[in-house]
Amino acid sequence: MEKVLIFDTTLRDGEQSPGFSMNLNEKLRVAKQLEKMKIDIIEAGYPRASEGDFEAVREIAKIVRDAQITAIARTDPDDIDCAWEAIKGAAHPRIHTFVSTSDIHLNHQLLKSKEEVLEIAKTAVKRASSYTSEVEFSTMDATRSDRDFLCQIIKTAIGAGATTVNIPDTVGYALPLEYGELIKYISEHVPNIHKAVISAHCHNDLGLAVANSLSAVQNGARQVECAINGIGERAGNASLEEVVMTFRTRRDYLKLDTNVVSEQIYPTSRLLSHITGVFVQPNKAIVGDNAFAHESGIHQDGILKEKLTYEIITPESIGVAHTSLVLGKHSGRHALRERLKDLGYEMNKEDLNQAFSRFKELADKKKDIFDEDLEAIVADEVLRIPDKYKLIYINVVSGSVTVPTATVQLELEGKIIQEAGFGDGPVDAAFKTIAKITDTKSKLLSYSVDSITGGTDAQGKVTVKLEEEDYTVMGQGAHTDIITASARAYVNALNRLAYLKKSPEKAIKDAV
Ligand code: KIV
Ligand code: ZN
Repeated sequence: MEKVLIFDTTLRDGEQSPGFSMNLNEKLRVAKQLEKMKIDIIEAGYPRASEGDFEAVREIAKIVRDAQITAIARTDPDDIDCAWEAIKGAAHPRIHTFVSTSDIHLNHQLLKSKEEVLEIAKTAVKRASSYTSEVEFSTMDATRSDRDFLCQIIKTAIGAGATTVNIPDTVGYALPLEYGELIKYISEHVPNIHKAVISAHCHNDLGLAVANSLSAVQNGARQVECAINGIGERAGNASLEEVVMTFRTRRDYLKLDTNVVSEQIYPTSRLLSHITGVFVQPNKAIVGDNAFAHESGIHQDGILKEKLTYEIITPESIGVAHTSLVLGKHSGRHALRERLKDLGYEMNKEDLNQAFSRFKELADKKKDIFDEDLEAIVADEVLRIPDKYKLIYINVVSGSVTVPTATVQLELEGKIIQEAGFGDGPVDAAFKTIAKITDTKSKLLSYSVDSITGGTDAQGKVTVKLEEEDYTVMGQGAHTDIITASARAYVNALNRLAYLKKSPEKAIKDAV
């Protein structure tokens, strides 16, 4: 069956949206997981944004050997050179350059004429092609652009060496039939279009990103740009899991499929939400908690008689595990490694040791360890390598007749610092003391506690949202003691803030 290429932009369009920033270690984990999932093209980032972004793209290019690795660049020659520097170590490098094409963008943002933009696009694509034969050219705000100009610039870009032409619905404005029609128009009016792959890049402002992407494919596009859990600028990009599972489920109608290993979809979705601290809504298609839950009596009756009655996708096909009760106090390192592997987490020795000692600590407090507990351990201990602050110790005294008091020990760039402080409640005391040590100016926007599994011995999972200057970050922490979980979540969020603030060229990043 003919294949549609899947281009994942979780680490670029996704990572640049508020609350989704990741550090180097986290980006590498996501990239490795995307490779395992057999994504065709991984957009690793925007190297010109900051040194940290450059390094992340370069490292991803080094470790991923199967997928194509692409980096985005404006048409600015320095951006293109920088993108190439970052990806030149990749087994299959691709440069992705873009320019706006709509009158709205040309007149109000670029302040350039169509002729100037044509020339800029030609020069940029030529420069990118001098480095690699895989060059993608995107026409930003394509769906609000003049069609003749769009066709003209696409023809020019292909003439200059572009091998993929991307038609972004940047503001999520198009309707499915209209977007499909635009793709058809381009394939019929650009004389050299047969030399390039047409790509769809749809935003979800009207909730139509997946529908628009599918319509593009039905009209000749053969690459879809999407992101895990649908993350991305504003309302996000087309959700990768929805796109892939539509092809898998409706091969009969679409007569197309992808190379993606669908069994890795659920582990990848969980990995991303553990890393970023942003949960997937329960009713989210494919990966939401309720995606396979049948509540009404008539549906349950049908499912018990024959799954086909109400289930169009099996949980196994996206990698949802059968059993969730897994390990206990007597389980060994080997059993833990195997279970984590089933959940999609390949551990090196050091990470496994870290996870194992936390697992043993938890097993002493809690009889049954569920998959969700293990995922929380991995998220807490392994995925989050604290950049700046590390919580060493917290002790809180609280009760109906005491002033809540916290004593906290943090490691700050190798130095151990201890402080004590009071608060209105135990969490407030803990946060105020951590804030005193770290001298943070951030504002706590939200705080929530969830239990990971049932029972009074369940681990509590705490999520906090902080804001400082223009930055918003999420932090997560888990523990059987919710005050400790809260402190972990707060420290995690402060580390994310510190990481973001290290990126001095955020203004450039915002331009993409
Ligand atoms: O949405 C958009 O237009 C983009 C391009 C830069 C590809 O993300
Ligand atoms: Zn986009």
